[in-house]
Amino acid sequence: MISTCIYCKEQFKHDTGMLDPICTPCTVKRTRMIREGRLRSADEIFKSACPKLYQGTQCHLLPDVQAHDRVQSWTYGAQGLLLLGETGTGKTRSAYELLRRFCGKKSFLVADAMDFANHAVDAHLQGRATVFARMHCNTSILFLDDLGKSKMTDRIESELFGIIDKRTSQNLPVWITTQDTGETLMNKFTDKNRAAALIRRLREFCRVVMFKRKEEIK
Ligand SMILES: Nc1ncnc2c1ncn2[C@@H]1O[C@H](COP(=O)(O)OP(=O)(O)OP(=O)(O)O)[C@@H](O)[C@H]1O
Ligand SMILES: [Mg+2]
Ligand SMILES: [Zn+2]
Repeated sequence: MISTCIYCKEQFKHDTGMLDPICTPCTVKRTRMIREGRLRSADEIFKSACPKLYQGTQCHLLPDVQAHDRVQSWTYGAQGLLLLGETGTGKTRSAYELLRRFCGKKSFLVADAMDFANHAVDAHLQGRATVFARMHCNTSILFLDDLGKSKMTDRIESELFGIIDKRTSQNLPVWITTQDTGETLMNKFTDKNRAAALIRRLREFCRVVMFKRKEEIK
């Protein structure tokens, strides 16, 4: 397909839909800048985004390797990922392994539910709510870890819903990990109608991957 290079804005033949369109001359320029230390490499980007604990993931040691592999087969597009399963089944580790592949190629934002909640509240108090929302709405990949782990309030729910709604309407993917089912998630929200609308969007716009405990896998 013919794409417009994100750097020089020239049209060029681009044969993968998975990567950001960057023409060959700009790719060469970028590689040189990374080498000269003027731009961060994919590995540096990954290390700055991924908590140390998860950087050492060895895929074969995960409890549910099949679910991990299903996550890795994700290709960039409007359909996001909803990783469901009990604690310790490898949801977060699998999502970070996937993120590794997109570092330096797609913009992304990662937040666990607690960070998201704190930042949403801070942004509001500091009059930066619009910037906060725009950042989360426009990034190529939004990864929200552990949805349902932190306490919900009207402010947080409304930010979360607004962001998910905007992203799905703009064909931008979201990755979510949660231990909750639709029902238990619903119970944590203060506004049940908004929760139902949020859950409906997640089901409709995400590919669901179920993670099992090791003992459950034959
Ligand atoms: N170095 C490693 N490489 C791969 N898997 C590991 C490694 N160390 C621990 N594990 C496994 O990873 C599991 C935890 O993975 P992870 O944190 O992704 O789970 P989770 O599903 O996100 O849990 P939670 O819902 O509590 O956040 C542990 O239960 C353990 O089996
Ligand atoms: Mg986790
Ligand atoms: Zn270019």
